[in-house]
Amino acid sequence: MSNHEYTPKSKIGKWFNDRLPLLTLANHLTDYPTPKNLNYWWTFGGILTFCLITQIVTGVILGMHYIAHADLAFESVEHIMRDVNYGWLIRYVHANGASMFFLAVYIHIFRALYYGSYKSPREVIWIIGMLIYFLMMATAFMGYVLPWGQMSFWGATVITNLFSAIPLVGESITNWLWGGYSVDNPTLTRFFSLHYLFPFLILGLVVLHIWALHVPGNNNPIGIDIEKPSKDTVPFHPYIVIKDLFALLIFLLVFAFFVFFSPNILGHADNYIEANPLVTPAHIVPEWYLLPFYAILRSVPDKLLGVIAMFAAIFVLVILPWLDTSKVRSAIFRPIYKQFYWFLVADVLILGYMGAMPAEGTYLLIARVATIYYFAHFLIILPFLGLKEKTIELPLNITEPVLGGSANPEMTKNNSNIRSNL
Ligand code: HEM
Repeated sequence: MSNHEYTPKSKIGKWFNDRLPLLTLANHLTDYPTPKNLNYWWTFGGILTFCLITQIVTGVILGMHYIAHADLAFESVEHIMRDVNYGWLIRYVHANGASMFFLAVYIHIFRALYYGSYKSPREVIWIIGMLIYFLMMATAFMGYVLPWGQMSFWGATVITNLFSAIPLVGESITNWLWGGYSVDNPTLTRFFSLHYLFPFLILGLVVLHIWALHVPGNNNPIGIDIEKPSKDTVPFHPYIVIKDLFALLIFLLVFAFFVFFSPNILGHADNYIEANPLVTPAHIVPEWYLLPFYAILRSVPDKLLGVIAMFAAIFVLVILPWLDTSKVRSAIFRPIYKQFYWFLVADVLILGYMGAMPAEGTYLLIARVATIYYFAHFLIILPFLGLKEKTIELPLNITEPVLGGSANPEMTKNNSNIRSNL
């Protein structure tokens, strides 16, 4: 049934829906035609929604017991861990939840890169996604400062100091960010305030993200445009709902493993030492999910250029829909792009590792090469590849290459092409 024709069955439902069409919206969401060949990489959008809600719920509860003051913050976190009923669980779910959220978002982004989901007509979905990602990094960074441990304090000092590299106004901007002349109580209170606010901004952006998704509908593993609804689609409920729930359960097993068996493995031991402005830790390292950017920042010898390179690394992703000149979306039909895709994955992993190592000697050299390759991938390889690459012929729809019986002889040829490349 099309959404326009939808009328609720009960009288009260109709009365309400005529005044606020929430039931029409619910009907749109359950009936939403989804490509029937979506694989498990498409379950991460739902998993991310779960992660965001988990962070908000646990965060609000932590906020009831946490004290945003430089003299009391560290102690209040210990109070949560020891005295508050299930405080340890709520804190560990929140802290490890941030890591799980980033794990899911990286899978979600790299899924989009592989299947070309950022390409026309889904550029706005992608850009809203990048805004979400940027806000996620800011939120996580500020959250890490709140326990007011050594890594909180020194991480905040290193990152806020980056702004001092801006010519002329850099120092004023840094002082303005700090609310003083160093990272101190005013910095902590504003970080707490923003850390509480940003997840709600992210939530608003997620609504826009999904709204924008529902205009063209989902991309799919073979990346072709399909008719909706048609024999190539299934209704969102129950098919996708049950698949998303199953994937979420598996994801929760991994999440639970960290929370119950290794709750501190992703953090840094120094953050269990209270912040001390007089003692600098031997190695100041951000959380794992920020490491590739940290490596890019440190691989440039000049501070200002390093900061520019770090922001540029995100910006090239924002303009990716226009850098990738290929009309074919899915890597399945782009044999050369597929290779470069895996080089990029390796490159980002190498950058992450180098971000955790001291910025000297061979580590620094490797980080520099990996940084250059990162930019080359987006600025040189992708634009040229799109023009030069010989792609594999696309099938006309999802169903026929799988079930066969196509009346179109061309389709049969496509069939064997696809099968040998799947
Ligand atoms: C809070 C974070 C996020 C949430 C809750 C979220 C949610 C979703 C959901 C529910 C979908 C549809 C299901 C799916 O394709 O998995 C989706 C699709 C998509 N997302 Fe996100 N997303 C988030 C972050 C991002 C980020 C950071 C990016 C990239 C920069 C991104 C890019 C996309 C794209 C391109 C699609 C369309 C995929 C397709 O149809 O092939 N998302 N997102």
